[in-house]
Amino acid sequence: MAILVNKIMLSSFILAIIFVTFMVGVESIFEVYEAKVLMTNKLSTPLTLHCKDKTHDDHINTLQPGESHRFKFVPNPFGTASLWFCSFNWTGAFHRFDIFVQKRDECHDCNWEIYTTGPCKLDPLVKCYPWYS
Ligand SMILES: *[C@@H]1O[C@H](CO)[C@@H](O)[C@H](O)[C@H]1NC(C)=O
Repeated sequence: MAILVNKIMLSSFILAIIFVTFMVGVESIFEVYEAKVLMTNKLSTPLTLHCKDKTHDDHINTLQPGESHRFKFVPNPFGTASLWFCSFNWTGAFHRFDIFVQKRDECHDCNWEIYTTGPCKLDPLVKCYPWYS
């Protein structure tokens, strides 16, 4: 009897370990693929930004000077590459820029600063881009 109980306990224990390993594994796969885009308003005025991809809409966000906004998504591992396009406007100005282009941006934590002249990506090295329009 004691041996039977031990066997049942042992197999439940093994099942629990397998289950936990599986859950942690699945979770870390999603973590690896999740990308974050952070944009900080470096203007001296409020900045409104609106980012979208083909199927998602990150909605309109207005940032005060120095404020940041972040959104997350899962980059497409196969097939069509992820592309997030944004509009940026402040008093008297309206611009467009693609904030995430899968081929250009190999970042998982993509850090951007927004200036009047255009956005600058901070990692791995500071790289500034002009507005598209
Ligand atoms: C940007 O444009 C939107 C829509 O026209 C407007 O509501 C918003 O106030 C503008 N943002 C700034 C900071 O001027």
